[in-house]
Amino acid sequence: MDDDINLESVYASFVSLQKDIPFLEEFKGFYFSEQENIGSDISSFNKPSYATRKDHSADKLKISAFFDEGALSETVTKEVFSPEVVRRDFPILNQKVNGRQLIWFDNAATTQKPQAVIDEIARFYANDNSNIHRAAHTLAERSTDAYEGARNKVREFIHASSADEIIFVRGTTEGINLITQTYGRKYIRQGDEIIVSTLDHHANIVPWQQLAKEKDAKLLAIPVDGKGDVIMEEYERLLSPRTKVVSIGHVNNTFGTVSPVKTMIDRAKQYNARVVIDGAQSVAHTKVDVQSLGCDFFVFSGHKIYAPNGIGVVYGKKELLDILPPWQGGGNMIKDVTLEETQFNAAPARFEAGTPNVADAVGLGVALDYVRKVGLENIEKYEHELTEYARSRLSEISGLHIIGHPKERISVISFILDGIPTVKAGQLLNKEGIAVRAGHHCAQPSLRRFGLEATIRPSFSFYNTKAEVDSLVAAILTVQANYKDFYI
Ligand SMILES: Cc1ncc(COP(=O)(O)O)c(C=O)c1O
Repeated sequence: MDDDINLESVYASFVSLQKDIPFLEEFKGFYFSEQENIGSDISSFNKPSYATRKDHSADKLKISAFFDEGALSETVTKEVFSPEVVRRDFPILNQKVNGRQLIWFDNAATTQKPQAVIDEIARFYANDNSNIHRAAHTLAERSTDAYEGARNKVREFIHASSADEIIFVRGTTEGINLITQTYGRKYIRQGDEIIVSTLDHHANIVPWQQLAKEKDAKLLAIPVDGKGDVIMEEYERLLSPRTKVVSIGHVNNTFGTVSPVKTMIDRAKQYNARVVIDGAQSVAHTKVDVQSLGCDFFVFSGHKIYAPNGIGVVYGKKELLDILPPWQGGGNMIKDVTLEETQFNAAPARFEAGTPNVADAVGLGVALDYVRKVGLENIEKYEHELTEYARSRLSEISGLHIIGHPKERISVISFILDGIPTVKAGQLLNKEGIAVRAGHHCAQPSLRRFGLEATIRPSFSFYNTKAEVDSLVAAILTVQANYKDFYI
């Protein structure tokens, strides 16, 4: 191409004109040189190579923003949801384990990452990486914009009223510890009561237990019925003017129970209690609107919603964050430091001491874009159908007992097999290429409610299929048939 033409500005104008209009085939050769070897497939054009994005991202935030959209791939922009199509965006699924096609049914532990997220992290490190907020140079500006842009995407995703209500942390566990160490340390006093649920993950039990011990406060747990639902009458009975905090899981990670959190929040508010919702198992599967829920805090982990490990979110109501003390001290969280005293920044910086995990926050932003494009309505509907299918197929197997039959369930089923130790069953399913969790799922009180120490737990995502459920059923039958041969 002619060197005199300023290709970047031509391309930038094209991009600005292009808004919402599909790329035209004839523009391909216009901007991208032959060496990019884009080929005739329009889908690879919509999803430019990493090298292309690297070349053209410097000093072109607008272009890079376009690429972020473009990188979401053709599959997620399809109108009709299809797990077969969407799963192509997850390269890890395309592999064999022990000679069998991998079936990833361990989504409640962690979800796999779409190519868009993987690419964005590589692009960020190759182009924009810098420490943020503290320098006047271009890369610091880009990194800061990307990080704050991600914060705003989280705000939109959970419908917080301001990006200042979004604190980046490592994950749900760190988020709940942040709340116990800030709100809890400041406001919980001797004799106060904190309510959790028997269904909760250890991450929502241990930090409150530690705080209660430190403050000589009381930790109360809402009992669970034989189906795996919280007993609402018992919850009502536990609430009192002594209740200072209700901290509960939205969706349980062992039986998939969806707790009626809206009603529970409303009831807690009648006692002026603060409410924390552990959204680790809900945010990837159902629409969350923190304002209509009316909770004070909502916490989730990025890795359970197709984002990288090591990044998570605490949403906190602004008026509450403004009166909470910081929990960790260091750089970024300060306004002014003398050797005698420190003035702290406002939220959210006050709660983000030190260099944050910028790249993974940016990855989280792209993961949320991805989920938005697939559509939470599609996800919820399809995953419900798939989970019901799995429940009904599994319940046909004799010697298999499903644990927990909650009124409302999301994407998780727990079961045990007669005569086969749970962990062994998990290992044998792995021989068939099927990844399920087998153990206590970091929710021992919920399992012990049913007299159990462990279950086998398949958990589903929108990229799983009914055919994979059929393979699980076949593999369980094989495990049952061959168990003795394996261990004699
Ligand atoms: C309901 C629930 N809460 C909290 C957690 C802890 O999440 P993380 O390990 O990402 O901090 C999990 C993880 O499995 C969970 O399922």
